Amino acid sequence: MARKTTRYLCKECGAESATWLGRCPACGAWDSLTELARVIGKDAARTAGKGPAARRAGAGGMPRVRPLAEVPLDETRRVTSGLAELDRVLGGGFVPGAAVLVGGDPGIGKSTLLLQAAHAVAAGGKTVLYVTGEESPGQVRLRAERLGALAPGLLLLAATELDDVLAALDQAAPALLILDSVQTMGDPSLEAATGSPAQVRHVAQALTRAAKAGGWPLVLIGHVTKEGQIAGPRLLEHMVDAVFYFEGEEGGSGRILRSVKNRFGPTHEVALFTMGDAGLTAVEDPSGFLGGRHLKGATGAAVTVTWKGSRPLAVEVQALVSAPRYGTPARVIQGVDPRRVGLLVAVLEKAGGLAIGGSDLFVSVAGGLRLDDPATDAALLAALASAHAGAALPDATLYLGEAGLRGDLRAGGRLAERCLEAARLGFARVLSPAAPEGVKGLPADLVRLVPDVAALLGACGLARARGAGLDA
Ligand code: TYD
Ligand code: MG
Repeated sequence: MARKTTRYLCKECGAESATWLGRCPACGAWDSLTELARVIGKDAARTAGKGPAARRAGAGGMPRVRPLAEVPLDETRRVTSGLAELDRVLGGGFVPGAAVLVGGDPGIGKSTLLLQAAHAVAAGGKTVLYVTGEESPGQVRLRAERLGALAPGLLLLAATELDDVLAALDQAAPALLILDSVQTMGDPSLEAATGSPAQVRHVAQALTRAAKAGGWPLVLIGHVTKEGQIAGPRLLEHMVDAVFYFEGEEGGSGRILRSVKNRFGPTHEVALFTMGDAGLTAVEDPSGFLGGRHLKGATGAAVTVTWKGSRPLAVEVQALVSAPRYGTPARVIQGVDPRRVGLLVAVLEKAGGLAIGGSDLFVSVAGGLRLDDPATDAALLAALASAHAGAALPDATLYLGEAGLRGDLRAGGRLAERCLEAARLGFARVLSPAAPEGVKGLPADLVRLVPDVAALLGACGLARARGAGLDA
């Protein structure tokens, strides 16, 4: 007979507690504990009978211990997704037994991306099970029709109950499972609403266990809440091996798949796609797409080269500076840490002599990309100073360098690769605190040295003589 006990689950970090507490003892979040009713009888039976522990165990019922060196390498062979951009973010393909979480706003294209990948894997002769809890089989067929995603090995299951998925797994023995979405799947024996943190955690736990035991990769699709989180901030992120966010600017066709955690590949890697009539297409030249335009006479916009995972990416940053409308100046910052913009504004005031701190400031990064790379400071400084002065920046110029508190500029890592990318895109000039040495293929006059913020502003024609107007 099933016996009920009540435990409490932290929505923020997923920690469990036997009693309700106002503050989670694990992560310190307030009012984050929710009731997690659990039917102990059923859970226990599952673990004892057909649970992964039992499946993994040898004939004697003992778990199998073996020397690491004897683990065959093919247990880690990856399943390529068939989409080169996706594979790169994954670190070379899906890892058997590993779980991947793909989050994003509703309508951004998660189902499209994963259906395309499912088809490509199936077209390679593998069996893929695509579980839809969100759309009817007819709707998925319609999308597949549009994408030409009808490989014979692509199997569809419309289900909202976990047991149906587990049963289908035994039946289909897939090489890849995609669950669309984790919020629409539930276990009725758990007294919690489908989509609640308790259900999401339970479903993810059961399926990640099954994936490990079965040695196939699992993809969980998750909707992002208004706060930008998948079912509670860190709830699922702890449980899976890799977390990707699929994002795009409202109304635009550009899409970015961003890696925020990856146990088996590089983090900070991004893949770029455009959404068209036939689904998602990889962007051939991401640098050219995001910032490779040679800005001509642009005010408040500067291009830099950032480093994302395994490759350089040219990207345009934009700034708008205006007189404050209300008492406190507004700061609307997208794609950069607002604290860093605050620091750069202070540096412009102190080292550059610009009275910019009291103005309304708007900063954004092209394509919805996020910059966490300090070597992009110089471009932000140039864009802010240009917007403040209402004066255009020089044509075909690219900006590199990390700002120090004293107004000094330092070269970031991978200077040579960044300069090569600038040259490849046809930029005539790179303003940087250092020049790479002995690099083949770099035009001799590409780099102009700007050791500090004052020199940077001077090279942009934005230097402000103390107590006077704008320098010519
Ligand atoms: P979808 O994959 O359903 O998004 P999600 O699963 O993240 O909610 O895609 C939603 C949007 O993409 C929808 O508005 C239609 C558009 N779309 C295209 O523009 N081209 C296509 O080929 C497909 C399949 C969808
Ligand atoms: Mg969808």
